[in-house]
Amino acid sequence: MSSSTTPDVFKGWVAHNATSPLTFTTFNPKPFAETDIEVAISHCGICGTDIHTLRSGWGLSDYPCVVGHEIIGTVTRIGSGVGTLTSSPASRDIRVGDRVGIGAQSMACLRADCSACADGQENYCPRITGTYNSRYADKSKAHGGFATRWRGPAHFAFKIPDSLPSAEAAPLLCGGVTVFAPLRKYGAGPGKSIGIVGIGGLGHLGILFARALECNWVVAISRTSSKRKDAIEGLGADAFIATGEEKEWARTHSRSLDLIICTVDAPDMPLTQYLRLLKVDGTFVQVGAPEKPLPQLTAWSLIQKGVKVTGSNIGSPEDIRLMLQLAAERRVLPWIQKRPMEDVNAALADMDAGKARYRYVLTNETGKQAKL
Ligand SMILES: NC(=O)c1ccc[n+]([C@@H]2O[C@H](COP(=O)([O-])OP(=O)(O)OC[C@H]3O[C@@H](n4cnc5c(N)ncnc54)[C@H](OP(=O)(O)O)[C@@H]3O)[C@@H](O)[C@H]2O)c1
Ligand SMILES: [Zn+2]
Ligand SMILES: [Zn+2]
Repeated sequence: MSSSTTPDVFKGWVAHNATSPLTFTTFNPKPFAETDIEVAISHCGICGTDIHTLRSGWGLSDYPCVVGHEIIGTVTRIGSGVGTLTSSPASRDIRVGDRVGIGAQSMACLRADCSACADGQENYCPRITGTYNSRYADKSKAHGGFATRWRGPAHFAFKIPDSLPSAEAAPLLCGGVTVFAPLRKYGAGPGKSIGIVGIGGLGHLGILFARALECNWVVAISRTSSKRKDAIEGLGADAFIATGEEKEWARTHSRSLDLIICTVDAPDMPLTQYLRLLKVDGTFVQVGAPEKPLPQLTAWSLIQKGVKVTGSNIGSPEDIRLMLQLAAERRVLPWIQKRPMEDVNAALADMDAGKARYRYVLTNETGKQAKL
């Protein structure tokens, strides 16, 4: 049943090109489908991907564009087909008034003949629709969470456990699942030594989730020692490597890690040295997405220890549900700094300058924007 209707004009912080500040203005959401829901947005985290997209860092973005894909809000409208949704039994329970989250993916083809979708790996569907800078099958634009409302498929909306506060829950929807999914897939847990490279939004969540998964040894790998105290005393890392300050760090710590999750988003990272930290048969997972190619590797970096170098894209709906459950059970709460959504341009500049400790979350809490 459709509980209410809203106009096909939303308001949000719209990017018009790669250089101008965002402006608060109108935009058109996708046409409402009966498998969609609508959400009054209360919070949205700022992810590194928002910055790459706003400046067309990975190629020309599809302006006008509303970014933001760590969305939390309250359901205000439910399509008549949501209660019987065959693609996602978990989404059938979504009700008006529920608190839900939406991450970096808003749709996939969901076809039975799609090996990714049929296997529950919608995040690897070749016809994936991102939450912004992307198009639905009907060619309408997908718009994200720097706005007062979100409209999109219920399949990719997730109920937030009651024990997770909204502001802290927001970064879990992209940053959280992006590190949780490879930790889960590559066996992070008791007996395992894990390295997290780049202690930013994703990286600090990597430490928190590696701890929650009860890994034996968690190493924070950062360029300088400025985040050492936070990483060890606050986030729970066992050790810290400052790659820009410690001479011979790659030799000192060689063959010490089973798994490395690399969140670095700059192309000049010391990749060969990171691989030296892996044990025989170890796995290196790149999740950061630099705008230029990764450094070259010699074959010996791979041959000498049989290491695997791979990547990981956000997480599946199942990953998101398991991640939220673990976060609720083990109190995995990101370190956040709230910023009013109207300060979005300043918050983006601070994020780009590396000032976030460790995730900015934009708030619509005053309700001033939410009524629009
Ligand atoms: N794969 C996916 O599905 C997925 C999902 C979400 C985001 N991403 C991508 O992940 C990346 C990180 O996002 P984020 O939100 O975590 O950004 P972030 O908060 O800015 O963190 C990035 C971290 O990378 C490190 N870094 C930056 N420049 C570096 C350099 N030149 N050499 C080595 N390390 C450097 C910094 O850590 P230190 O200060 O500790 O060195 C920084 O805190 C972005 O590229 C984003 O697009 C990918
Ligand atoms: Zn993201
Ligand atoms: Zn598919």
